[in-house]
Amino acid sequence: MLSKKASLVCHGEDSSYFVGLQQYEKNPYDSVHNPSGIIQMGLAENQMSMDLLESWLSKNAEVAEFKEEGRSIFKKLALFQDYHGLPSFKKELAEFMEEVRGRRVRLDPNKIVLTAGSTSANEILMFCLGETGDAFLIPTPYYPGYDRDLKWRTGVEIVPIHCSSSNHFRVTKDALTKAYTQAHTLNLNVKGVLITNPSNPLGTTMTKEDLDMIINFCMEKHIHIVSDEIFSATVFDSSNFISILESLQQTKFKSVKNLVHVVYSLSKDLGLSGFRVGMIYSNNERVLSAATKMSSFGLVSSQTQHLVSNILVDKKFMKYYIKENTRRLKKRHEMLVSNLKRIGIHCLTSNAGLFCWVDMRHLLSSNTFEGEFELWKRILCDVKLNISPGSSCHCSEPGWFRICFANVSEEILHVSLHRMKVFVEEINSNCHDRGYNGPNLICKWMFGLSLFKGQMER
Ligand SMILES: Cc1ncc(COP(=O)(O)O)c(C=O)c1O
Repeated sequence: MLSKKASLVCHGEDSSYFVGLQQYEKNPYDSVHNPSGIIQMGLAENQMSMDLLESWLSKNAEVAEFKEEGRSIFKKLALFQDYHGLPSFKKELAEFMEEVRGRRVRLDPNKIVLTAGSTSANEILMFCLGETGDAFLIPTPYYPGYDRDLKWRTGVEIVPIHCSSSNHFRVTKDALTKAYTQAHTLNLNVKGVLITNPSNPLGTTMTKEDLDMIINFCMEKHIHIVSDEIFSATVFDSSNFISILESLQQTKFKSVKNLVHVVYSLSKDLGLSGFRVGMIYSNNERVLSAATKMSSFGLVSSQTQHLVSNILVDKKFMKYYIKENTRRLKKRHEMLVSNLKRIGIHCLTSNAGLFCWVDMRHLLSSNTFEGEFELWKRILCDVKLNISPGSSCHCSEPGWFRICFANVSEEILHVSLHRMKVFVEEINSNCHDRGYNGPNLICKWMFGLSLFKGQMER
């Protein structure tokens, strides 16, 4: 028998985002062994520059062998238990983040709490700042994992700040105010606003005006700001990523320092999602102290800290890595955008991330979330591409999808674009009879009524 908490459905893993990931696992594409399998384009994973890291490792074998100047440091690392983390690692992490922020902000390594990825960092912050009856406001569309990470164990609710395609999904004061009022209508106490900058799933960075507006709003209400900056070094067009830490330097509000918290990890920028290296950065002593205690439930292993700090300390390599990685991301992004455009599919203009926010409203059989779900099922089951429907990101307009481009090879991207082309041509040739005959048998089985109902209730 499970506890009430463990069996709560607010783990969020029943969304089509997670179902798509599971379906891929059952039938993954392989050019030789399973060429008709599902291609994974629903995972924001960065595989673009693995070769650079592998080549660094082969040149620095001593690091992976746990040796320093020829002597083993195995015992030291194996016995290290301190939940504050290795000081050398925190120092390198802080310097790396400063570099990514154009050296316009200074970071104090003592204000870093290490966590097992951003997943853990976000949950710890929610745990420290809120509880049942409290809410965080989040601009839509947002990362589907937040429903699980922020709410499940903490009891905190998410209230969406509805953003619209009419202004490229930018957050407005009006939308922010509406969400704040909505939370009160629901009897929820607003504890803060959580932003994702650069955005997942939009792939856009926030302007200084957007950030200032959010800071002003939150300081007037005296609520927290959590800024998830996990994609900060994936900005490939213009170097204009502005961290919340930079914005708050100019604000007049005295309380701001204690109310702003940054979440970061190396899962995206370095593609090290398996290493589980994340962190919270905060100026708030009480948050730091509570979060440090909480972090003992999900520490970063000392062997990982040792390895990664040795990579980060190689400043020449890191500069090259960031430059080359963003160059590759930009090229891949352009490949996806231009090929989709050729088949009449447009993407939101973006400059960051590992994905595009794709407008397929014209392919819907009806301008509803039922229509979106139907199209998504068809793309997953018939076209065999796993992409994420906007509804799984709580987008308020049906017909938008997130397509990831950095977790597959160029060859696989071409296969998926070819599949999309054939699919769109088929829709166009049947445009007078776009009625959908329903998914194939396997799909009928896999999409139980409950999931479908769950989607429609969103
Ligand atoms: C915005 C955002 N935050 C947090 C996470 C979780 O990242 P991690 O692998 O570091 O736990 C993701 C992963 O996709 C994400 O996109």
